[in-house]
Amino acid sequence: MKKLIGPFSEILTLSGLALNGAIEDNQLQIIPNGGVIVEHGLIQATGDFETLRRTNPELEIEEVKGEQVLLPGFVDCHTHICFAGSRAKDYSLRIQGKTYLEIAKSGGGIWDSVQQTRAADQAKLTDLLAQRVQRHLNDGITTIEIKSGYGLDTENELKMLRAIKAVSLTSKADLVPTCLAAHLLPKDFEGTATAYLDHVLQNLLPVIKTENLASRVDIFIEESAFDRATSIPYLKAAKAMGFEITVHADQFTTSGLEVAIETGAVSADHLEASTAREAALLKDSDTVAVVLPGASLGLGMQYAPARILLDAGACLAIASDWNPGSAPMGDLLMQAAVMSASEKLSTAEVFAALTFRAAKALSLEDRGTLDNGMLADMQAYPCNDYREILYHQGKIKPGIVWKKGTRI
Ligand code: NIG
Ligand code: FE
Repeated sequence: MKKLIGPFSEILTLSGLALNGAIEDNQLQIIPNGGVIVEHGLIQATGDFETLRRTNPELEIEEVKGEQVLLPGFVDCHTHICFAGSRAKDYSLRIQGKTYLEIAKSGGGIWDSVQQTRAADQAKLTDLLAQRVQRHLNDGITTIEIKSGYGLDTENELKMLRAIKAVSLTSKADLVPTCLAAHLLPKDFEGTATAYLDHVLQNLLPVIKTENLASRVDIFIEESAFDRATSIPYLKAAKAMGFEITVHADQFTTSGLEVAIETGAVSADHLEASTAREAALLKDSDTVAVVLPGASLGLGMQYAPARILLDAGACLAIASDWNPGSAPMGDLLMQAAVMSASEKLSTAEVFAALTFRAAKALSLEDRGTLDNGMLADMQAYPCNDYREILYHQGKIKPGIVWKKGTRI
């Protein structure tokens, strides 16, 4: 069905902006008193509401009341929201001064979430995940990447990925699953890191292919997880099997970003430890730099150098990293808004990082702007000026969210 939606005080289309590098607010296309024509879940036209109404008198009108600013739906290109249990204990230790790595060594950390997630059955996990997906959708996040990585054996990694698939069949949000079996060398695996990754390549990834559970593979490259030498053959082998690659890179120490670029990863995520040297490597690559302010806030660490990355010409996306350990809050807009004040990002750069640039990190070209032909994934904020949204640092939420043209 074809319909005209509006009127909106402003439509921010995010049209015509570069995929890479800095963007100024005066480059934003803003349509005042705007309307959108939607058909078959796609945007057919945007423009002045009254003009669209006059020139398309046959169209049904979906009226929007009050002041509203319309944006593309957000894309959260990095989450770990398929988990059971809590790590509140870790957080209380951390704010007393213990580090992430100290807590991991003393029985907390990722391995604790692995125990709690292994103990939940698939139905329980599906239920917990569905609630978190719905919360994100209500916040205007219409596409969500979700990683496994709290199973860390074939059975439990498959359980997680099957839970993600189950939710994707019932939720209106689009879910993009990623296999993160290389999150940590599991404590109960008898053998080296290389032997574990070979085991994943031989036993887990083929089943993921057969059941069509994920088309992306992630690895955590860090002193506490997998090193560069072990990671490269794993990533190359996964790529040869047809998986896209993404990397948890440079969170505490550098080397991950370099591996990501060398292996042709679609994205390198975290980058809190990256410097101008790493940023320069991104300049001529297709790898998206994904920064995760929620992890900086959760760990009390510095932000990734988003300004330096943009000025070096990177394609910068911002994601929530929502997970039970380092980033328990999961409020993507709040995190992006707060980081932008410290990192000095323009509103245009923040919205690009939450929409079409984040879509690029997931190799999705059909969303992230309100151009004609794009998915009608949209959200409207109750204000009359797009600048109000970051100004309120996440406390204004979208009052209306559309997925493929249908109101949630
Ligand atoms: O992206 N850094 C590694 N993995 C997650 C944290 C997972 C956890 O602490 O449970 C992250 O921050
Ligand atoms: Fe992560």
